[in-house]
Amino acid sequence: PTGLLSDRLGRPLRDLRISVTDRCNFRCSYCMPKDVFDKHYAFLPQPSLLSFEEITRSAALFAAHGVQKIRLTGGEPLLRKDLDRLIAMLAALRGADGQPLDLTLTTNGSLLRRKAAALKAAGLQRVTVSLDGLDDAVFRRMNDVDFPVAEVLAGIEEARRVGLGPIKVNMVVKRGTNEHEILPMARHFRGSGVVLRFIEYMDVGATNGWRLDEVLPSAEVLRRLSAVYPLRPLEASQPGETAERWAYADGAGEIGLISSVTQAFCGDCNRARLSTEGKLFLCLFASQGHDLRALLRGGCDDAQIAAAIGLVWAGREDRYSEQRAAQPPDTDPGAPRRVEMHYIGG
Ligand code: GTP
Ligand code: 5AD
Ligand code: SF4
Ligand code: SF4
Repeated sequence: PTGLLSDRLGRPLRDLRISVTDRCNFRCSYCMPKDVFDKHYAFLPQPSLLSFEEITRSAALFAAHGVQKIRLTGGEPLLRKDLDRLIAMLAALRGADGQPLDLTLTTNGSLLRRKAAALKAAGLQRVTVSLDGLDDAVFRRMNDVDFPVAEVLAGIEEARRVGLGPIKVNMVVKRGTNEHEILPMARHFRGSGVVLRFIEYMDVGATNGWRLDEVLPSAEVLRRLSAVYPLRPLEASQPGETAERWAYADGAGEIGLISSVTQAFCGDCNRARLSTEGKLFLCLFASQGHDLRALLRGGCDDAQIAAAIGLVWAGREDRYSEQRAAQPPDTDPGAPRRVEMHYIGG
């Protein structure tokens, strides 16, 4: 048996985020700004993508190492051709404890209305939908491809109808851009069973022109919400969870606050990331990954690949958000360039 892993800071490996494409049909300015990701941008060529067989083989090795949750991301994962087939393959895997894995996906929701039923049938358990506002003009501006909010809302509804729940909605809050959508979003999703989570705008990647003054701290989100809807704190449901949970005092459900900037949660970070082309990344803010694809395609057997994964995790000591909190981000132009979120999978 592989034995469960622990890194240099004593953190176990529990979550695997798999990016299945580096492409997206949206151009959110905080992730894939249009001026960088234009028609000249070189996305990954098809042969460099991990195949479904390669992804599933890797995922099985991660599961043997203790991974209990697999999240498919991108880019926009629903753009990957035949994704249902991959989901069915992953749904058949079991964790080290013999239990099925928590299998989920983060999507922008644009294709969800059409695809939800097939995803559910293939074995997907739940979805998380990114949605930055309810106001159509604000939403169209933020996705920057003029995509209407009604279609995403219809996607969420369809996901609920087919039983892809509990559904979470992620809202990245940018001061001066969509902060006035906080209350309308809360009002809309309260009492619906959907868990709305407010995310602090993060300095991920190297192209979004992040500025601290555009971050609206979660404490401020909480202050504005509780002025209208009293909230009480909830216990974490999982160790190492990204979101701090709060319940509406009147029983209308819960919300989450993801505060990577003002309240880093590296202390029990249990996430690994597999990029679209098969590089193993640990921290979201890493500049370099470990080439698993070379091992997968180089004739290594499962034991060799499992050992390589184990070594990478055992040597891990990154905790970027905590360090950034202690010391401002590195502005040295010679510093290694951080990978982009659409590539590493968030
Ligand atoms: P649940 O299992 O549903 O709680 O999902 P999750 O919160 O692990 O994943 P999701 O894709 O919904 O991510 C929510 C937000 O947290 C996104 O903005 C992610 O980029 C961010 N996030 C996820 N993992 C990490 C992490 O390890 N570090 C940091 N700094 N941010 C993260
Ligand atoms: N800061 C915070 N969240 C981000 N996301 C993408 N880029 C950023 C950023 N710079 C969010 C997406 C999605 C999740 C996976 O990450 O909106 O909900
Ligand atoms: Fe696409 Fe999501 Fe990035 Fe927006 S945040 S550009 S929807 S991958
Ligand atoms: Fe984990 Fe890195 Fe995020 Fe900290 S910044 S929680 S170490 S991924």
